[in-house]
Amino acid sequence: MSISKGILDVLEKSSWIRKMFEEGIQLKEQYGEKNVFDLSLGNPLLEPPKKFKEKLINLANSEEKGMHRYMPNPGFISTRKAIAENLNNEFSINVSSEEVIVTTGAAGGLNSVLKTLLNPDDEIIIFAPFFVEYLFYVSNHNGKSVIVKTDENFVPDMEDLKSKITTKTKAIIINSPNNPTGVLYPKETIKKLGEIIQEKEKKLGTEIYLISDEPYRKIIFDDSKYPFIFEYHDRSIVVTSHSKDLGLAGERIGYIVVSPKDKNKEVLFDAIIFSLRTLGHVNATAFMQKAIEDIQNESVDINVYKKKRDFLYKELVNIGYECVKPQGAFYLFPKTPIEDDAKFVQELQNHKVLTVPGRGFGLNGYLRISYSVDDWVLEGSITGFEKAFNSFN
Ligand SMILES: Cc1ncc(COP(=O)(O)O)c(C=O)c1O
Repeated sequence: MSISKGILDVLEKSSWIRKMFEEGIQLKEQYGEKNVFDLSLGNPLLEPPKKFKEKLINLANSEEKGMHRYMPNPGFISTRKAIAENLNNEFSINVSSEEVIVTTGAAGGLNSVLKTLLNPDDEIIIFAPFFVEYLFYVSNHNGKSVIVKTDENFVPDMEDLKSKITTKTKAIIINSPNNPTGVLYPKETIKKLGEIIQEKEKKLGTEIYLISDEPYRKIIFDDSKYPFIFEYHDRSIVVTSHSKDLGLAGERIGYIVVSPKDKNKEVLFDAIIFSLRTLGHVNATAFMQKAIEDIQNESVDINVYKKKRDFLYKELVNIGYECVKPQGAFYLFPKTPIEDDAKFVQELQNHKVLTVPGRGFGLNGYLRISYSVDDWVLEGSITGFEKAFNSFN
């Protein structure tokens, strides 16, 4: 077999995910789409704002020459300016277009940043539970993932973090609101993270980046305030996308912002662009860059996700599930009533409810539920959640 051993190993280890997915398809074929309640996918439900579609039509009809050619790798200056201006208005920060790079989604951005930072065997700290792709993004660039625990509210366990920062630590990735827990890190957590990083940098004589992966930044509820990381650590990088907040996951459009306070920001910027180019992204698609320019302050209707969270959270807690109430994203991450999360997810499947076991996110004993689904799916799933719970109680 001429396929990479590393990739074959990963396929083998993750074959259970494929199996689950196939079983889901089979269930839908057997019972009909309307009788299976699929809460397993993190796909945005809501359509992009009206203004986005109008802009697309205008762009398609535009006579402007050169709109579809190569461009500078960080993207159109007008798009980068629009992003910077919007961030400055929203967070009272002071970034310029010189610190913004438009990317092919958050995934493209993260890979470019990790390629930029990592020497072989450097370590990247990740908090469990985590978006599982981080492991692969880190190994793509010969780094090592170091997993740090979170507490009962899924915020970082600071003592565990302190014990795991070494001379090899290159960066710490945070993701808030979080996939899979939906938890939004409060300002105090980000402040504390900054303090710990700076203490360790001093003690170890190293430089550590804080990378904030924030594609759910605008999907927050209950008047929560988003603490922007630049205030708390100078060596920090924001990576985000419009996959969820504008419902454009399939269009692959996002951006990176490097902190204006980073004393190495120019070389960091050039290095990220080199990485982005040589990873084959070259630049984010021209059409999408133009399309998002005028809608930087828009988002899908967050209230729709909030209502779904409220409904599902209340129903699950009534049944008896233990669950942290999330303040953002579109996921719930309750405890499974038995330790074996895969077994419980199988039981839910027997009741035609599809979810993902916590172990798929590096934490056993939980299940991830995506409520980015139509109301009939949420409502229809409740009986299955109840029956599965009661079969172990
Ligand atoms: C936490 C997290 N980071 C990154 C991504 C990738 O986002 P994008 O589709 O913008 O590449 C996702 C997608 O689900 C995610 O949940």
